[in-house]
Amino acid sequence: MSDNQDTSEPGEIHGLWSSQFAFVLAATGSAVGLGNIWKFPYITGQNGGGAFVLVYLFCILLIGIPVLMCEVLIGRRGRRSPAESVKRLAQEAGAKPAWQAIGWFGVLAGFLILTFYVVIAGWAVAYVYFTATGRFSGATGEEVGAFFGAFTGDASKLLTWGTLVLIGTMIIVGNGVQKGLERAVRFMMPGMLGLLLVMVGYAMNTGEFAHGMKFLFQPDFSALTANGVLVALGHAFFTLSLASGAMLTYGAYLPKDASITRTVVFVAIADTVVALLAGMAIFPIVFSNGLEPGAGPGLIFVTLPIAFGQMPYGTIFGTLFFTMLSLAAITSAISLIEPAVAWLVERTRLSRVRACVISGVAVWVFSLGTVFSFNHWSELTVSGKTFFDALDYLTANIMLPLGGLFVCIFTAWILSTKVTREELALGDSPVYSVWLFTIRFLAPAAILIVFLNAVGILNFDS
Ligand code: PHE
Repeated sequence: MSDNQDTSEPGEIHGLWSSQFAFVLAATGSAVGLGNIWKFPYITGQNGGGAFVLVYLFCILLIGIPVLMCEVLIGRRGRRSPAESVKRLAQEAGAKPAWQAIGWFGVLAGFLILTFYVVIAGWAVAYVYFTATGRFSGATGEEVGAFFGAFTGDASKLLTWGTLVLIGTMIIVGNGVQKGLERAVRFMMPGMLGLLLVMVGYAMNTGEFAHGMKFLFQPDFSALTANGVLVALGHAFFTLSLASGAMLTYGAYLPKDASITRTVVFVAIADTVVALLAGMAIFPIVFSNGLEPGAGPGLIFVTLPIAFGQMPYGTIFGTLFFTMLSLAAITSAISLIEPAVAWLVERTRLSRVRACVISGVAVWVFSLGTVFSFNHWSELTVSGKTFFDALDYLTANIMLPLGGLFVCIFTAWILSTKVTREELALGDSPVYSVWLFTIRFLAPAAILIVFLNAVGILNFDS
């Protein structure tokens, strides 16, 4: 099948989701992942709690949701992998095809994120095994912490578990994302919510629930730095899978008659609820065990096993919890690799399976940098950052906000309002004008200010 011609019909190359609901499931599967349960709590802990959470929520509402609408819209109208879709829309608008750089930048960001994402997802899968075999029964905070240190200190273990995740992801993507994904997310989401509620229930009985809630929801702006604001903005992009090709690609498989606004709002709410529940479960455990909220990437792997080791049926709940976390991570990993695979399938004569293998091998090689950041290369730092820290900072705090800025500019200033109006199909609703105003002025200005402020060009607070 020749698929380089731009004349093909929607869905001809990559297929479409079976329904609007299938898209919602897939997009939620992409959004909800390690970002919500692993990253959100630890960066909240590192950035002082409440004020950071408030800024993060603002970023989701003011920037995340409008940008997510832009990406799904571009994807659905372009019907191709990110760069191709942007190029097609630019051409339709009579603008330069060079705008496709936005797509390339996103695919690159997604690729880089995936190289560390599979490693951390490997931790989640390993912890399924550790909890199921009763490793944490009755363990103290110290024991659990030491266990985590020994685990991440062993490069061969991290490599094994990470490789397992990567192979699993490749098998699903090789088979076409539409079928497998829909089934996985359908039971993952309710399962995840149920287990998080169990954990919050446990946290309520730790004696430090009020302390945890206060830390999470009572803003103390003196604890927030300019860099913290940038981390909150970057995380809003990360957690909604923005500026990384994922949502653009998933949008390309969305049936024409689906409502972009409604699906996007649902995805954002589901994503935010999961993150907040994770925070509500974790911080009371942190405080009741005398742990450090700013402990970093190990936070959930040290707090949750303590809880599972102590609570009734902890082995069962713990095993289920880490299973759900692994699934959530894999449904996100799928969306991180799909843009590159979609591009290879479009542009070359490679089959999906071959395209998957090639992308997978490339991810694997680069993932070694993250694996070694926790052991052999842990002392190898540049301004205090390991390879993993630097990769995380580069992607979440630099590439995603900049990519998002250009997505806004392209949608707001290059695409005609006729095109965006048609795709969003909001009729005369004021929602359209609010969205347009936001992506034309508010969101780009906010991104620029936060960004420049943190890199120190505009030094507002020092
Ligand atoms: N949103 C995912 C999470 O929060 C991560 C992700 C980022 C997925 C970018 C796709 C693209 O875990």
